[in-house]
Amino acid sequence: MAVLIKTEEEISLMRTACRNLAVLHEELKEFVRPGVSTLEIDRKGEELIRKMGCEPNFKGYDGYPATVCVSVNDEVVHGIPSKDKVIREGDIVSLDTGMIYKGWHSDGARTWGAGKVSEEAERLMQITEECFFKGLEKAYAGSFLYEISESIGEWAESHGYGVVRDLVGHGIGMKLHEDPDVYNFSQESSGLRLQPGMTLAIEPMITCGSGDVIWDREDGWTVRTKDNSLCSHYENTVLITEEGPEILTRQEGNK
Ligand code: MF3
Ligand code: CO
Repeated sequence: MAVLIKTEEEISLMRTACRNLAVLHEELKEFVRPGVSTLEIDRKGEELIRKMGCEPNFKGYDGYPATVCVSVNDEVVHGIPSKDKVIREGDIVSLDTGMIYKGWHSDGARTWGAGKVSEEAERLMQITEECFFKGLEKAYAGSFLYEISESIGEWAESHGYGVVRDLVGHGIGMKLHEDPDVYNFSQESSGLRLQPGMTLAIEPMITCGSGDVIWDREDGWTVRTKDNSLCSHYENTVLITEEGPEILTRQEGNK
């Protein structure tokens, strides 16, 4: 496992990719409403990324066809945008996207409710976000990586929610996916300790059910919960510093 430590210069380029992503998520949020197709969100996402002088990093990744992964209700991740897939009142919609600035990546996901959503869905989205922050509490230089994973998983499970175990967070930098894997549940320690200059995408995927998932056999991408329970996803690119974790993909005052 090779976990890369980023220099100040590299971090400053990542900051741009990440700050832009935070702005993008705030803009895309407005499109999560009844009547909008998931393809419209993808188109808007790509247009804004290019306007920012960046490039989409999901498009073409292993052949993935879009800029924004739009995953609705029981879809966990990698939903493929389509003009025929129209958001309805009460849906919860995860938008997962990222971009490249001068070779450096950002990655982040938010889940938003369309119109009025059920209390069950609200609570799921809330807990998922809390899971991220529970993980973040452990993201200090000198701590073990597994402490992040354990903290996320415990928060979800102690509240009765399922953790998706087949998908993980990751290191990020000049590649979208770098070492290490960042699990969302308790792991035996690999011995890896966090160091300043590491950049991690921490991304709990939490369900109202068991956490077991299946891959869509037709499109080859969409991941759904096996029991069709609702799923929420919340992800940020995080920098480990001497002083503690810094969320690079979030703007002050926003979700
Ligand atoms: N967003 C995913 C992640 O967080 C990666 C998406 S890969 C793609 O790691 F192919 F779907 F774009
Ligand atoms: Co990611």
